[in-house]
Amino acid sequence: MMRWLITLVVPIAAVPQLNATMNAGISCNMNVSLQAEGYLHDWCKDVSSKTRFPACYPAGVPEWHPENNIIVQLPDPSSCPVAVSPEWIIAGWSWKYIQLAPGELYPLSVNQSEHAFMKLIRGSVLDVNQIGVQTPSGHWETFVVTPPNTERSLELDHRLSAIKAGEKGAVFALMVVPVELFNVPITAMDQAPTTTIRGPHSDAMKWTKFPTYFPDAFPESLEFWNLAGILLQDHSGARLNYNQWWTQSQIDSTDGGYHNHAGTPGNLTFGELHMVMYSAAPNTGMIVQLPHTISTETVKKPEEIPENNKYFWNQRDNEYVQMTLPLPPGYVHGPLWSINASNGEPTRDCVGAVRYPWHGLVTGPINAAGGTSQPPRYTLWVVFEHVPEVIKVPTSMLQYVTNAYLQNFVDWPTPACKSKSESESEPESDRQMLDLSHSHVTSAFLLFVSAVWMTLI
Ligand SMILES: *[C@@H]1O[C@H](CO)[C@@H](O)[C@H](O)[C@H]1NC(C)=O
Ligand SMILES: *[C@@H]1O[C@H](CO)[C@@H](O)[C@H](O)[C@H]1NC(C)=O
Ligand SMILES: *[C@@H]1O[C@H](CO)[C@@H](O)[C@H](O)[C@H]1NC(C)=O
Ligand SMILES: *[C@@H]1O[C@H](CO)[C@@H](O)[C@H](O)[C@H]1NC(C)=O
Repeated sequence: MMRWLITLVVPIAAVPQLNATMNAGISCNMNVSLQAEGYLHDWCKDVSSKTRFPACYPAGVPEWHPENNIIVQLPDPSSCPVAVSPEWIIAGWSWKYIQLAPGELYPLSVNQSEHAFMKLIRGSVLDVNQIGVQTPSGHWETFVVTPPNTERSLELDHRLSAIKAGEKGAVFALMVVPVELFNVPITAMDQAPTTTIRGPHSDAMKWTKFPTYFPDAFPESLEFWNLAGILLQDHSGARLNYNQWWTQSQIDSTDGGYHNHAGTPGNLTFGELHMVMYSAAPNTGMIVQLPHTISTETVKKPEEIPENNKYFWNQRDNEYVQMTLPLPPGYVHGPLWSINASNGEPTRDCVGAVRYPWHGLVTGPINAAGGTSQPPRYTLWVVFEHVPEVIKVPTSMLQYVTNAYLQNFVDWPTPACKSKSESESEPESDRQMLDLSHSHVTSAFLLFVSAVWMTLI
């Protein structure tokens, strides 16, 4: 197969000399390219498309969009103190990646007519107004993760004049949105601001109805859309983060899919954190099951799900207590995965996947009669799929919590894999979390859907 490659090498813009330690002479590149056509190995072209994922593609790209991703490779921070990517506009929000070597500053100038947001991807930053951990020297340090089972705003205060990296440096996404746009609801997938998409190789970014990727599994009418995607790699070419964007409509009881990522191979597993950009309803947010909390007397068992709404909307046929973390625009949630209380690292299932309870992004109606806004709105959000190495939770974030359910997320026991004869590689307890006995679906379909959701959002 012919291989082609379009590469754009962007010189780093001169950064004002706010930091005396910055080496003014150094210039460096952030390499932005469209993923090369073809496969990583020769054997890939001789096998069925099902067999190609994931080995034939760069680590981090999703199964439903394994080709045509934008790849951003960071320079080596040891020879490049401040690196800034070119800018994309995605659904009207400006978007760029910034890498700072330890202690470096990125100057900021956010005016009163815009909102700015920062999502860390590696390392830490000091003294932004996002809550973190106070260091012995009195600085507030913000990390890739915020406290588990809660939500936080990622908005930066207008008065902040620079972002300073912590002692391990920082990589973050910086997003800016004009105030007027922040107040606009999304009501169409083929109009601005949904379609306001610009930047290097942005022709490759197309809103795609999720059923188009899996026509046999989902009705074509399902109002659940995907925009893929940008793969961020470190200077060695290792995956660091993947970003993709999604929408779901208030109508037809759609939501972002209920999934737990079980069985994702260890070298592809990620810690996912969602930030909402446009919210369709006041309760838009993450629904998450609380492990080990079977509803008996205090919470009525959720009603059975109508045949057509099996995987979208509602609490499904799940007898565990579930909660929703509301996510207004610019908010992100903390870890929903299982955490090792002694070191803050994610715990893994028997194949190396970061272990999650069932969860999904939901929007829902705006009144008890199931009503929607007029015209109906879409929720639009971005997911950060972080490599497991960067999502360690500072243990001080695990020590005192107002949410009593946190205890269910730390030191969650990891079940052993079943032997090959019992099951392929399905981690034991995940299957029983979805109560099959009350479901109308065939288990074959369920297995397919759970495989599809395995790596989803
Ligand atoms: C940019 O990345 C592409 C794809 O990996 C590579 O072929 C090219 O050599 C890189 N360019 C530079 C200047 O590093
Ligand atoms: C992930 O690991 C599997 C073996 O466990 C290997 O076959 C596969 O090529 C690896 N993928 C990547 C992208 O490294
Ligand atoms: C403030 O931000 C808005 C929106 O990004 C921009 O259009 C405008 O030019 C900026 N104004 C000033 C004075 O910089
Ligand atoms: C948690 O971390 C400790 C210390 O590193 C380790 O000994 C233990 O095995 C880990 N537990 C799990 C469930 O991963």
